[in-house]
Amino acid sequence: MGKNKFYVTTPIYYINDIPHMGHAYTTIAADVLARYYRKKIGRENVFFMTGTDEHGAKIQESAELGGKSPKEFADEVASAYKKTWEKLNISYDYFLRTTDLEHERAVQWVVNKLFEQGDIYKGVYQALYCVGCEQYKTKSELTDGNICPDHNRLCEIHEEEAYLFKMSKYQNEIEKRINKDEILICPKTRKNEILSFIKNEGLEDIAISRKKENVSWGVDLPFDKNHTIYVWVDAFLNYLTGLGWPKNTQKSDLFWPADVQLMAKDIMRVHATIWQAMLLALNLPTSRELFIHGYFTVNGKKMSKSLGNSLDPNGLADKYGSDTIRYIVLREFPFGQDGDISEEKIAQRYISDLGNELGNLLQRTLSMINKYEVKVTKKNIQSIDIDLEINKLCFDGALIKIWQEVKNSNQYIEVNAPWVLAKTDTPKLKEVLEKVFNDLYRIADALEYFMPETAIKICNQLKDKKPQPLFIRIED
Ligand code: MSP
Repeated sequence: MGKNKFYVTTPIYYINDIPHMGHAYTTIAADVLARYYRKKIGRENVFFMTGTDEHGAKIQESAELGGKSPKEFADEVASAYKKTWEKLNISYDYFLRTTDLEHERAVQWVVNKLFEQGDIYKGVYQALYCVGCEQYKTKSELTDGNICPDHNRLCEIHEEEAYLFKMSKYQNEIEKRINKDEILICPKTRKNEILSFIKNEGLEDIAISRKKENVSWGVDLPFDKNHTIYVWVDAFLNYLTGLGWPKNTQKSDLFWPADVQLMAKDIMRVHATIWQAMLLALNLPTSRELFIHGYFTVNGKKMSKSLGNSLDPNGLADKYGSDTIRYIVLREFPFGQDGDISEEKIAQRYISDLGNELGNLLQRTLSMINKYEVKVTKKNIQSIDIDLEINKLCFDGALIKIWQEVKNSNQYIEVNAPWVLAKTDTPKLKEVLEKVFNDLYRIADALEYFMPETAIKICNQLKDKKPQPLFIRIED
């Protein structure tokens, strides 16, 4: 964290379809960080940005399939994203849409600047292109017959007149900065992966425009109206334009570079190369940290819309509650590793961790306080220390630590048996129930970032001493 401020970004998501659990995953993680730092360093010192990536061939294609204009289509899906984030209590500071006029203007301004300073030139580009990824691919990334494994989709060979960005010019500097962790790439295996990619393949100049007759749904290239700007150049700039840059640099001076940019491995390479080269060309600080988390997989395959195996965060949040979804995605496997997720796993943890452990702890504690008419008071509690885990983005570790307290408190009740103390030792009964009562405050305090609604519910119930089930039994 730099300058006593914290800026966290998620990728801006494609709007070819409504959000699935994979998108929710990154966004929930960013939200936990934003909530945590707001409490630590104050609301005004934190900026959390997300949004939607709305241009390009893929969106054009989906809109056509849906019989809509791209803008109409984009409005619908962008609002579905906003609704989902609202349901999941995502407290973003800014939601950027790349079709916002201010953003489009800024993108044109940047491309024009790079053209004028000689970083963009006209040429011909020939490469394999996956519309699903909106990325150029090397042969080694594709299976036989040029199929992209992430999208199960045939990559086309593009050969056309294009404007190219001199990425090659920035190769050495990018390599050096990644090597020295000035651009920190986490986990370390990802850093090695990207360094060996740069070493083996090199950074070539890339096309940053498409002929309008091929991709019309994009920002016009300011100096050649027969072209639109490559969707990734447009998209990357969101991290700056969402701060008001370049018109107003007050926020960007404070917040850029982002303290951490979250994403999965599908888009690590473009972030570690094209985005950094653009920043260097603009004479701006490069990214401080890219954290590459794992994939949700279903039977070992990346969960994705194109593979048709995705889970819907809306339906699941309706059924199990948004906090349950927030808890499970971060608890199930370490951030940075791939892991399988399924409704069965959600249902299981809902019953065990949430209902039987946390919910039951609150219920039984308040019931006993009421039943035995014990006067308990809130003490000055010491927080559960999860700073280290949060700093390392070890969300599962933080939750395990919090749950250890839940388990300890439940065990403390078992060992001390207040139902016996009620008959034999009332001072001890008060001591025991008061301790657990305060433990619950400690737990709620640490859970606030992960499960904001539950944390409030716990505190309210502790205040009113009225037990109500936190996680009601779900009838199938
Ligand atoms: N629009 C680009 C990003 C531009 S950022 C300047 C894009 N969009 S996307 O909709 O495909 O989102 C990709 C991101 O969504 C991943 O990097 C990750 O953050 C999240 N996930 C999508 N599917 C996922 C899983 N199956 N598992 C985990 N995260 C997933 O790429």
